[in-house]
Amino acid sequence: MIGISWGGAVDGEGGRCMLVIERPETAGASLDYNRLKAAPLSSDWAEAAEREARIHSIHVYPAKFPALIFQKAIELATRRGVEVKRIGDIFCGSGTVLYETAVRNLEFWGCDINPVATLIARVKGMRPDLEAFTAAADRISLRFETASRASTLSPVAVSRLTPWYRAGQFEDLVKLRNAIESETEDHSEARLLFDCAFSAIAKPTSQWKARSTKPARHEEKTPAPVLQSFQKQCRLMMAAWAEASSATLPPFEVHRADVKSVPGPAAPLDLIITSPPYAMSYEYADVHQLSALWLNYAEDHRDLRRDVIGTASRRSNLSFALRNLNPVGLQIVFRLFEKDRALAESLASYFLDMQQVVGRCHDFLRPGGVCVFVVGNTQLKDVRIDNANHMVECFIDAGFENISVLRRPLSNKPNTPYRQANGRLSSTPTRMGIYAEEYVVMAQRR
Ligand SMILES: C[S@@+](CC[C@H](N)C(=O)[O-])C[C@H]1O[C@@H](n2cnc3c(N)ncnc32)[C@H](O)[C@@H]1O
Repeated sequence: MIGISWGGAVDGEGGRCMLVIERPETAGASLDYNRLKAAPLSSDWAEAAEREARIHSIHVYPAKFPALIFQKAIELATRRGVEVKRIGDIFCGSGTVLYETAVRNLEFWGCDINPVATLIARVKGMRPDLEAFTAAADRISLRFETASRASTLSPVAVSRLTPWYRAGQFEDLVKLRNAIESETEDHSEARLLFDCAFSAIAKPTSQWKARSTKPARHEEKTPAPVLQSFQKQCRLMMAAWAEASSATLPPFEVHRADVKSVPGPAAPLDLIITSPPYAMSYEYADVHQLSALWLNYAEDHRDLRRDVIGTASRRSNLSFALRNLNPVGLQIVFRLFEKDRALAESLASYFLDMQQVVGRCHDFLRPGGVCVFVVGNTQLKDVRIDNANHMVECFIDAGFENISVLRRPLSNKPNTPYRQANGRLSSTPTRMGIYAEEYVVMAQRR
């Protein structure tokens, strides 16, 4: 153990080092803003060279984390003496943790506020009959030719969707929706599968700028043809299931809900593995607006922003934040306040939400249960948003113990270690350079 000044130590568990956080001994001891710089960088947690299961590529999802995190988190929890049977992901996104849990025949409980996320996650947890799926895909393709061109969507949804599509593309997508709806039953498993396939092609068939995680039109883009894209997507999903073992997956629970208010799991969890949303980084409701509108999750996708953690539209009154934020959160909010008051209020709301979320994790876990959070630090108006440091403080306040931290490189490509705003790897250390690594914060319930 190597002691370090602010009350932490590096714990070398057989080369798997983590920075162990201890409470500062003196009450009111100043918190070092950059204290987590001392956390070891672990190549063990870097993206694995081998390809992850194909099922993880059936639908693009921003900030999806690699399946490797799951394996590493289980190893960590096991080393802490936890027998892992029930796993949760409170920000389950596209269901990476769900799928990895299910294939190991363990129980899964999760939630996400984004209906497109829970759609993808549910589909990842399914093992459809491949023959039935192919037959249904063929019937939908056939029906497409004669399907109605009249949309059943509300005029508001249509008016929001049409600017994103060339006229012929929009008409073809309406036909495809109608074909899917006539060939599958409402609320059936088959509907879910084809809704997911439809959602996956909603952007490639539009003028949405390729790879953009912000709503941006690209007029010159040649959109992918609708029917061929759908058929290709169905083949991709088939290949993913064909690659997986034929065993059926155990039942799982996925709730489309706000983690702050969702009724917790009926039986306590042994391990929570999750990656929280970043502050003002992605507007998930905006990123998935095409899918959300087509699938009738909302008439106006902006309604889906409500309660999303990290959205700029949530703001907290600063005097309330002053009374309730932990000292790390407060310090960062005030740094940002000097540059931009509105952003500081949104950041305060984000930190307050995360404090509440960690409290909920405490409630969801059994005594001795472990939380593994993967968090990245970001930057707003040149202020470093030290999410990992804030998270550590949340764990301390919520009464967790054995809190430890490591850094994981975001790329296994040492020549291009940085990520640009569009997600591409690059060798240029820009302001996005901070995305070259992220933190794994682990804590155990007493
Ligand atoms: C970083 S992503 C998780 C990605 C996931 N690990 C995966 O592999 O796909 C964060 C997720 O938090 C969700 N989220 C944001 N606010 C939420 C809330 N209040 N309750 C539940 N989920 C929320 C977003 O919809 C998003 O899917």
